[in-house]
Amino acid sequence: MDVLQELETRRKAARLGGGEKRIAAQHRKGKLTARERVELLLDDGSFEEFDMFVAHRCTDFGMENERPAGDGVVTGWGTINGRLVYVFSQDFTVMGGSVSETHGQKICKIMDMAIQNGAPIIGINDSGGARIQEGVASLAAYGEVFQRNIIASGVVPQISLIMGPTAGGAVYSPAMTDFIFMVKDSSYMFVTGPDVVKTVTNEQVTAEELGGASTHTKKSSVADAAFENDVEALAEARRLVDFLPLNNRDKSPVRPFFDDVSRVEESLDTLVPDNPNMPYDMKELITKLADEGDFYEIQEEFAKNILTGFIRLEGVTVGVVANQPMVLAGCLDIDASRKAARFVRFCDAFEIPILSLVDVPGFLPGTSQEYGGVIKHGAKLLFAYGEATVPKVTVITRKAYGGAYVVMASKHLRGDFNYAWPTSEIAVMGAKGATEIIHRADLDDPEKIAKHTQDYEDRFANPFVAAEKGVIDEVIMPQSTRKRVCRAFASLRTKKTHTPWKKHDNIPL
Ligand code: HXC
Repeated sequence: MDVLQELETRRKAARLGGGEKRIAAQHRKGKLTARERVELLLDDGSFEEFDMFVAHRCTDFGMENERPAGDGVVTGWGTINGRLVYVFSQDFTVMGGSVSETHGQKICKIMDMAIQNGAPIIGINDSGGARIQEGVASLAAYGEVFQRNIIASGVVPQISLIMGPTAGGAVYSPAMTDFIFMVKDSSYMFVTGPDVVKTVTNEQVTAEELGGASTHTKKSSVADAAFENDVEALAEARRLVDFLPLNNRDKSPVRPFFDDVSRVEESLDTLVPDNPNMPYDMKELITKLADEGDFYEIQEEFAKNILTGFIRLEGVTVGVVANQPMVLAGCLDIDASRKAARFVRFCDAFEIPILSLVDVPGFLPGTSQEYGGVIKHGAKLLFAYGEATVPKVTVITRKAYGGAYVVMASKHLRGDFNYAWPTSEIAVMGAKGATEIIHRADLDDPEKIAKHTQDYEDRFANPFVAAEKGVIDEVIMPQSTRKRVCRAFASLRTKKTHTPWKKHDNIPL
């Protein structure tokens, strides 16, 4: 009986983490505790904890007198809508969630389990960093976690929720995961904090400005989404997991759908304006194609000239990459290329088919682009599409010019189905630019130039030249796009390809 009593007493103490005072302080900051977060993330009652009684082994600086059960991180497994996930949640109320040797070992244990059993790893980060009293043992713990992030990459999805401080080298664990969600005003990530920045560069900046959710979703693109509070971020993490397979050998879950596969959307016939220089909202096309209009956007606030995210077609997850004519006329640039390349690679690693919606006038010109290495960054997207072996369906809605035409999942990069709307223009460049080059001698004669431009438009401002060459498989009616795309993906469910043996590729980084 005493033993049972002791178990209950120990459990109670462990569940209290750093004690009621510190829990109240955590709540005052608008943050939930590590355990509350796990409860909200997982299905009710599904959490099974590991290592609740693990305590550190440090004996320096009087640490032997303070050995809280669990050592500042709650770890274990549970389910999200019935599907297995592994989770660790750092407990800021216990020594600031700082990472000791044993804290790191707890995280590594569940990462190893996740890799072995093929289930996603969700890390909730809220930590003052390396446990200062432990010195190099703490750094070693981080190193062990980093190595597992790398091993797990492309094997199981890894999701990081940043819900407090994440500073110094500690940022590199979330940085290597597939998705990072942050909470506005209560989380930050930086390699060196505001004080060091002030000393070294004399810049005065707050933690929020330097590494808050807004900075990382709008400027740096380190994070994929920012949310108002912990509850919202956790609910969105559940939604994201629902789109993903559990591991790289699993298929995405097929959800029940109530949307007609053959749904005709007549409004799409007039989506593209008559004036080729007028923008339109590509998101409208995505939501009209998706089952129940549900589009889960990734990196919504960054490089808005390209859209990335997940939809379902016939209940099956599909990754969408789409040029957005509303921003920079849909041009590809450094940021858009990086954003889309990483997304394409995620989809390919986890067998998620890719739908590309193309309206791209080319790459954005300018010294800032060239000096910033648009050659290498653009090559990332080209490379990512070309190496991807998942089913690839592409729909050109309007412009597909120059190198950007090839990059955007063209036939030449092993596109499986390449459709074009009748409004498509597939050419080396726009008619005006082309005319000014090939008819330079007539530049002084506006009449002649107008005629040449018209000739070029008549010849190339359509999908038929490309269709005659077979690099467009079919010219389709906009209104029937959902049906055509759904049927295309359905026919590709058994796709198999062969790539020559290599250790790994050397994508331009
Ligand atoms: C041990 C720590 C700690 C740490 C915080 N605590 N950080 N204990 N090691 N790294 C403890 C505090 O002593 C305090 O204990 C409790 O956690 C809460 O901390 P506060 O300072 O009271 O909280 P707050 O005011 O919210 O400030 C949070 C903070 C600050 C900004 C994170 O604690 C801080 O600056 N900590 C040090 C950060 C740091 O320099 N870490 C090392 C970075 S280098 P009590 O008992 O009072 O509750 C690093 C390298 C990783 O992490 C390398 C990987 C390769």
